[in-house]
Order: sequence, then C-alpha cells, then structure tokens
Amino acid sequence: MCGIVGYIGDKSPEKFLIDGLKKLEYRGYDSSGIALKNNDKIQIIKSTGRISELEEKINETETIPCTLGIAHTRWATHGEANERNAHPHKVGRVTIVHNGIIENSNEIKNRLVNEGIVFKSETDTEVACAVMNELYSNDPIETIENSIKQLKGSYAFGILLEDSDKLYAVRKDSPLIVGIGKNENYIASDINAISDYTNEYILLEDNEIAEITKDSIKIYKDGQEIEKKIETENKTIETANKGTYEHFMLKEIMEEPIVLQRTLNKYKYSKENIMDLTKYDEIHIVACGSALYAGMIGKELLEEKANIKCFTECASEYRYKKVIYDRKTLVILVSQSGETADTIAAMRKAHEEGIDTLAIVNVKLSTIAREAKYHMFIEAGPEISVATTKAYILQVALLSILALEAAHKKGLEPNYEQYLQELEKLPNKLRKVLNDKDIFQKVGEELKEDKSAFFIGRGIDYAICKEGSLKLKEVSYTHSDAYEAGELKHGTISLIEEGIPVFAIITKDNIKEKTESNVIEVASRKAKIYTITNDEAITNHHFKYTVEKISDYFQPILVVPALQLIGYYTAYSRGLEIDHPRNLAKSVTVE
Ligand code: G6P
Repeated sequence: MCGIVGYIGDKSPEKFLIDGLKKLEYRGYDSSGIALKNNDKIQIIKSTGRISELEEKINETETIPCTLGIAHTRWATHGEANERNAHPHKVGRVTIVHNGIIENSNEIKNRLVNEGIVFKSETDTEVACAVMNELYSNDPIETIENSIKQLKGSYAFGILLEDSDKLYAVRKDSPLIVGIGKNENYIASDINAISDYTNEYILLEDNEIAEITKDSIKIYKDGQEIEKKIETENKTIETANKGTYEHFMLKEIMEEPIVLQRTLNKYKYSKENIMDLTKYDEIHIVACGSALYAGMIGKELLEEKANIKCFTECASEYRYKKVIYDRKTLVILVSQSGETADTIAAMRKAHEEGIDTLAIVNVKLSTIAREAKYHMFIEAGPEISVATTKAYILQVALLSILALEAAHKKGLEPNYEQYLQELEKLPNKLRKVLNDKDIFQKVGEELKEDKSAFFIGRGIDYAICKEGSLKLKEVSYTHSDAYEAGELKHGTISLIEEGIPVFAIITKDNIKEKTESNVIEVASRKAKIYTITNDEAITNHHFKYTVEKISDYFQPILVVPALQLIGYYTAYSRGLEIDHPRNLAKSVTVE
C-alpha cells in the first residue's frame, strides 16, 4: 500500500528519497513521485510504473538545489493510477503526500468546487491539501491542527508549507515515524525505508504533529509541545536484501527453519510468554488474507485438541457484523504487519465491548501490537515479498503451541511431552521439505500453461488448501480455488475437465479415506491430481509428495511450504514479478 518518506538535512534529498521509495516498493504501488523545496520554490516530479522510471526521470531533470523533500509510492484508491493522481499534490502554498483515505473528501470537494477551487486530480489527497491551503495561517502547527479537524478517515501526511523551511508530518490510523539522523532527520511510513540511515526514531501517535529541521524534532499535540520516547529498532540477522536469491519470496521461504527456531526458542523456555487460553469459553480469530488462513488452522486445533469453542472471521466482515459476546471471549488478531486497517477496526470493536484481545504479530511497534491487551510476537524479521510465507508459518506455529498448551492444561493431551520433543525437531524436518525444492520447481513448470487449479481437503487440510490456493493465485495469476473436498461435487465439479490440476491435501487420519474418494471422483473426470500427504499408502495419480508424518499440531508446517514453493515456481516459470504481484499490497492500511 502507499508509502511515505521525507528528508531534511544538509544534503540534496533525491538519493535518500529514491532509496527510501525503493525500500517501500515491497508494500505494493502503481505510481510514485517526489517534491523538492527550496524557499518558496517547489519542484514536483512524478511517474507511473516502477521507481526506476521515476529515478530515470529525476536524473534527466535539472532539479533545484535544496535540502528538503518528500516522496510517495501510491497504490491507487481514488482515481486511476496515472501521473495526475500520483502524489505529491500541491494546492496553493501547501504540498503533501498522503497514505490513507479521507472519507469526507467528496463532501469537502463539493463545497470547495462551489467556491471556485479547481481540482487537477481525482484524489482525496488533493482535497486534504486544499483544506490545508484554505486554513493556511502564519502558524504552521495551527494550520495543520485546524485542517485535520476537518478531515474524517485515516491519514499519514508528509507536508511542505510555502513559508516554512521545515518538514511537517501528522498521522491518524496510518503509521508514520520520524527518523533521527546526524545533521538530518527523516519521516517514513515504515522503518524499512530508513533503516540503512538510522535505527532511532519517534513513533507518531494519532494527531500528533511533527515539526522537523535538520537538527531538531518537535512534537505537538493539541497545540502543546510534548515529550516523546525515542525508539530503537534492533536489526535481526535477516536483512532486507535478497542476498543470492532472485526473489525475496524464495529467500523468505528458505528462511522458515531459522525463524521457526528463533520463535520456538522464545516460547519454549519461557512458558509464561504463552498465553493461557483455557480461561476463555470462546475464541474469535480475526484476520485478513493468509493470516486468516493461519487462524483457520488454529481454530481446528483449539476445538479438536483443547475443546475450546472457536470461530474464524475475516476482519472486514467482523468489524461490521453483530457479534454476540455472551460468554467469556478472547479475540485473537493475527497480523504480520499489525497495520491492516480491517484487523485494527475489529480489535477496537472488541475493546469497545470490553473484550480481551491477543495480538499475534510480527511488527513490534505496530498499532495492533501496541493496542491489543495481550500480544505474542512471531520472530519473522523483515518480510519483504508481498505474498507472505515465513510470517504465515510462524503464525501457524504460535497458534499450534497455544492449542497444545491449552490442551495440556486441560488434561486433554496425553502425548504432551512427546509433542514438545517433536517441536524441537520441527525446524529440521521443515528444512528437509525445502531441500526438495527442485521437485516443486518441476511442478511449477508443469503448471506454466494452466489457467485454473483447485485445491481440496477436509478439516485442517482444507485450511491448508486455502493458503496453498491463495499463494498460487496471488503470485502466478492462476485462477485457483480451495474447496472442502466433500463440497466440490455440489456445483464446482462441473468445472473439472481433462488435465485440470487438482491439489489434494491428505494428512488427517480420520478423514483420509473420505478425501481419497473425493479425489477418485475428480480423477475419474480426468483431472491431473497432485497429492501432498503424510501417508505412503495414499494412491499416486499423477504426482505425489509425502512429508513425514508428525502430530496434527505441527503437520501443516511441513505441508504448506511445499505449496508455497509450487506457487513460487509457477510464477517463476511465467517470468512474473513475483515479489510485487499486480494490484496487491503487503500491508492493506485502507478498507
Ligand atoms: C495483504 C497481504 C497478505 C496478508 C494480508 C494480511 O493482503 O498481501 O499477504 O496476508 O494483507 O496482512 P497482515 O499484515 O495483517 O498479516
């Protein structure tokens, strides 16, 4: 989703801004731009497409000498992805970049149009900019404060004001930090954008306004200057570089054993870090995308093993539906970024009802990590590929551990000690699956020309199918759907024709035979069956990969990486931009 960087210092800002935008590319975008400021001169350069195209444009332009600038990657929401709609936007004396959505922009725009203001773009950002220009006064903090009072919705703004040689920033419900450098300071919507320059920063809270020069940072709230804590980002061993890998996605899949080990170490030896779920009568796991599918695995385990009633729901539905909290309920929010707008809203809804929340998150200073009542961190390190892989595996791992501990606490798990030992060996077992990546590459090459695929499984295998199918579709653009194996024949089987790939996931003992008969139903209609199982005895129709049989708690952690690699290699065989699939964003900070 959109990204912001800004610079003020004693150097020309172009290099920093371009570096920062490149670090934000992973979030997903379709246009970009920069604004440079020297006294009352503003120069704006924009481009659609890749940052490299913007960079080329800047190199070909005679830029104004300056030491202050802001930049943006835009993921189109209001109006198509073209240069007119790309940020920065300038209205009169105000130039801004913006992440988020201004919900009352139409209303404000109608009023301003009636007053004779002409808008150049279709964006809500230009409307916000016009509001700031309308309320412009000699006092920049007052200008910004009065302006945000007019705006509804979410925003992170980087702001340049004509009569000031300072950099300004403000945010609400969209992340923004102020990075601290030497003789220079920065703003960024994501620490990754500035982590090569500094690891110290100030986290802006809602409606706090930053006024920044090259050697000072002042933060204001309600007109008063306030004290802020300086945060430090500790770097993990994984860097945000691809290393020898061609794509972040493959690098991050191959990192799964290391990050799994790190997460296990953290929770294995300090059991007090594992939240006790047995005190709740009901659990709602609420998340989006892959995090939701990780939650589906958690639900299966919590119900089956720990006998705790559990629901999963996508956050965009949960936030608006009537939820009946009539029992002692815990809402678990699962989110890699901790900034997904719908998941944040679901969390706040639970808080309004006085319901406890537990966040399973990767980004430690994210909104969800900070606001949830309890949190457990996965230790994935930076995840750059838009399609999540290692963070998903760790979300599943933590939910499995929570279920195992809850089952143990309730006296429902006779094999607890054995499973703890199994957990120790899990990273190595996972490594073995990843070592077979050539096998999955061949599958990916076979799928190169396929337009459509299906995934079938039952119970926890169905939850695995959802993620396998999502990975394949998001990176390789293959139409793909996951079905409960028994449900396929109620309509969708009409789509099964000769040669269509059907992935069958068969790991669950009590339902293996049932899934096998569903496989036969599609095989007899000449579908090409790719089976992933933990049972040597399962029939091989076209392709079969057998993972080691381990306890139900951890089995998905050996199966999903195979599907991630198949998704990756299918996209690879098609020569696609795997780390930045079209239209997708890593962190979806708008509704
Ligand atoms: C986007 C990403 C997905 C991710 C989902 C939830 O759609 O492309 O990979 O699963 O958001 O993100 P979160 O950061 O909340 O886990």
